[in-house]
Amino acid sequence: MNVLRTKSVEQSLADTDEPEFRLKKSLTALDLTVFGVGVVIGAGIFTLTGRAAHEVAGPAIVISFVVAAIACALAAICYAEFASTVPVSGSAYTFSYSSLGELFAWIIGWDLILEMFLGASVVAQGWSAYFGTLMDQLGAPVPEAIGYGGTVDLMAILLVLVLGGLMTFGIKESLRVNLVLVAVKLFVVLFVIVAGLLFVDPANWTPFIPEATARETATGLSQPLLQFLSGVEPVAFGVGGIFAGAALVFFAYIGFDVVATTAEETRNPQRDLPIGIIASLVICTILYCAVALVVTGMVPYQDLDPAAALAFAFAFHGQAWMATLISAGAVAGLTTVVLTLLIGATRIIFAMSRDALLPIALAKVHPKFRTPWVISIIVTVIVAVVAGFTPIGLLEEMVNIGTLSAFVLVAVGIIVLRRKRPDLPRPFRVPLSPWLPALSAALSLYLMLNLTVETWLRFLIWLVIGFIIYFAYASRHSRIGQPGYTDFSLPHIVSHTRDDSDDDPRS
Ligand code: ALA
Repeated sequence: MNVLRTKSVEQSLADTDEPEFRLKKSLTALDLTVFGVGVVIGAGIFTLTGRAAHEVAGPAIVISFVVAAIACALAAICYAEFASTVPVSGSAYTFSYSSLGELFAWIIGWDLILEMFLGASVVAQGWSAYFGTLMDQLGAPVPEAIGYGGTVDLMAILLVLVLGGLMTFGIKESLRVNLVLVAVKLFVVLFVIVAGLLFVDPANWTPFIPEATARETATGLSQPLLQFLSGVEPVAFGVGGIFAGAALVFFAYIGFDVVATTAEETRNPQRDLPIGIIASLVICTILYCAVALVVTGMVPYQDLDPAAALAFAFAFHGQAWMATLISAGAVAGLTTVVLTLLIGATRIIFAMSRDALLPIALAKVHPKFRTPWVISIIVTVIVAVVAGFTPIGLLEEMVNIGTLSAFVLVAVGIIVLRRKRPDLPRPFRVPLSPWLPALSAALSLYLMLNLTVETWLRFLIWLVIGFIIYFAYASRHSRIGQPGYTDFSLPHIVSHTRDDSDDDPRS
């Protein structure tokens, strides 16, 4: 069994032209940017900012946001090169199939499934929590048993079912709903920045980087792996706190990589994907730093509410209606995150089943809606069950580790594919390769080391399950491992103006 067999780039592209697996190409650069901002701004900024500032970084959380943004920007540039070279559904998974080989591709796909399934479930619960707060503020509380933290989180389940339905019906329609919700979310984030400025007291920013102090709440398994390995006392704040904060608020950026999963549905992926990925990242970084600065200026970090800092900061200043407005914005904002992560999860599984690493029958595209409907339904049901019945509200770090590990492999993949296939047309190239991809891998790895020991243990268990499935099923059924398989590496298949979109009779 050759677990390092690779699938050629030409083959990946040719697969997308098989009629029964063909998705509709309708998305533009603007759609992708909206899609990116839609998935990126969510639970991270609405909840984690407060937690990270309060527990590990203080006002220096602003620097944590910058560090996390640098890690994401480096990864984004690598994603952009890959996405422009191999514009095929499946994101990092597909890229690594053509560079690092099948086993690595499987691991990345498996990590991305973790990122998106768990991410969608975590954010659905966050949505339910904010929905509960909003209904409380409006005087119509959700009954405890069926709200956030209740026996069954019925609100989270309903949300996932409605969004799953939208996603199955058609991606263009989903994006239209997304557009309205993203607009509401952006309005609220801008509102926090502008209105918040009125209540800022610059004294709250001193000291900007609080002195490192012992941290009793984080010992044993709940301390960062780096501290655990170096055997030092668990500390919070100081320079170490900035990195621990960055590893946590990294969650707030998750999602821009999901843009790359829609490559196959993009009209001109070589141009539009890099624009979409990088534009959404830049917009979010600016907004996050501004929000973090304003919120830590409004309330001393020791007093920030770790659960709902944004709304709290306004309530702290007696502005109840503003707090309500922010809760409403969070409800709209988190909706789009769940929708996009659901779409991302289906596209990853779609790509993996098309390669027969998962059952190939799953990858059938609906003849009318041209969406992978079987997978959409499965993803919706699983996310609904996880969000509705399990206490996963605090597993953001698991989502982070899954994503960061994919970033590391993507960066390495860039270096490998440059060596293996220097001939491939690369409409977008990472500058300073191999140094920049190497730096990207190193920074992502460093952030991973700043995640807790228990997150690492859970991640290792997830990987072991992945390996078992790979060797028991995937490697035996893999399409490219079949005896009759021929890889048609025909250079002419690589076309750089794949605008064969809506007017194609087959679509
Ligand atoms: N970036 C997304 C959020 O913050 C996952 O909710």
